[in-house]
Amino acid sequence: PLHIGILGLEVYTPRTYIQQTELEQHLQVPAGKFTIGLGQEGLAVTGDVEDINSICLTVVHQLLEKYNLDPQSIGRVEVGTETLIDKSKSTKTVLMELFPDNSDIEGATIVNACYGGTAAFLNACAWCSLDERLAIVVAADIATYAAGPARPTCGVGAVAVLVGRDAPLVLGERATHASHVWDFYKPNPVSEYPVVEGALSQLCYYQALEDCYARWSQKTNTTATTPDYWVFHAPYNKLVQKSYARLFYIDSLKQDNTPLEKWRDMDRIQSYHDKELEAALKQHSASAYQQKLTDANHASQQVGNTYTASVFLGLCSLISRRSLVPEQQIAVFSYGSGALATLYSLHVRTPTQQTEFTTERMQQVLQLETRLSMREQVAARELDLALDTRAKMHTSGVPYTPFYPHDRLFPGTYYLTHIDAQWRRHYART
Ligand code: ACO
Repeated sequence: PLHIGILGLEVYTPRTYIQQTELEQHLQVPAGKFTIGLGQEGLAVTGDVEDINSICLTVVHQLLEKYNLDPQSIGRVEVGTETLIDKSKSTKTVLMELFPDNSDIEGATIVNACYGGTAAFLNACAWCSLDERLAIVVAADIATYAAGPARPTCGVGAVAVLVGRDAPLVLGERATHASHVWDFYKPNPVSEYPVVEGALSQLCYYQALEDCYARWSQKTNTTATTPDYWVFHAPYNKLVQKSYARLFYIDSLKQDNTPLEKWRDMDRIQSYHDKELEAALKQHSASAYQQKLTDANHASQQVGNTYTASVFLGLCSLISRRSLVPEQQIAVFSYGSGALATLYSLHVRTPTQQTEFTTERMQQVLQLETRLSMREQVAARELDLALDTRAKMHTSGVPYTPFYPHDRLFPGTYYLTHIDAQWRRHYART
């Protein structure tokens, strides 16, 4: 076997963030609504000097630099994002700036809500069986919502994933759910905000998870407690807690005489709304959640929803906080509205043909905890300013020169210098 999977990871999230406690005050909602109700602590925010191209440039440049990669060794670069600034020219092509002497690079940009990064990852793994070179998958988004209940679930993040053979994290069994639903979509050409039906999107997420889980657990002969770790797409932490708990319900339906017996014959849709069942599942799953999910969730609680990057950020968070051991199994659930979802296994192993790419190296490179602690907290009203500025850019015309100061960015960050009269975007690096 070629042992195709993840060789390296790099993450980027902006230097500025806001606290959810302050956002509660700013938006005049009861204390605890975002922190306890949604389970979130912070939210990354950036201004008009960063866009999807710049954050992808930043994270790929850092991946190449930190892993000392020769740009000639890369044969595929594919981007998953739903932050679109051009209806034709893909962000992938902008990244070609980083590969000046190598034009032989496959891959484009893939769009399907939060699933584009996973689609790119699965493509990259398939490609690696045909080509010995390395692939880079970039999952990145600036998650934005109009004023309303979803506003506290904005966020910004990008992850670059190095994919190849003889990997320390090998892609294993998977199961997919694809359907046609209108839970979250972006139909308005002059607005970046999604049309979102919150309750429906939660339902679609649960249904996709349970559909994937039914097939994946059968294939792998596993239960909710078998994998050593779980990484879930994390729009906000509360949804992840409840989703993991649901797997205990699904498992219980396969057993005789479970403590959840009284809910055995309940209609599935009704079961999502049963508060007593929810409380029982929370209790059953609590200690496994603590052991298997909290480390992966830590970063997204500080950064917010990062859409396509969310599962990869979860993986980075886990690896930064826990040392992985060969033979361990990680289960990853990726959901993108509309809807597409995949549940897959990653198997931890020691590479046999190379010593360059290991999970220890990933941990050293990421330093995610340290980097999150170096961020600057800004006032909650900055979220409104950032989003209003981005919204205006859709209609303000060109040329455009961003006004946000560069000293708010981490060193080594790409930024938008200007959009010229032909709508071409130009970038520089701090
Ligand atoms: N203290 C503690 N908890 C509180 C407080 C408070 N003061 N006020 C409310 N809560 C709790 C509620 O009881 C509720 O808890 P529960 O989920 O355990 O019942 C929780 O906070 C959420 O409150 P709601 O009123 O149910 O929902 P809200 O109007 O805040 O909206 C929603 C939440 C729907 C998630 C919204 O943020 C949204 O639309 N987000 C975007 C869609 C989304 O992320 N969907 C997920 C999958 S799709 C994707 O990734 C984009």
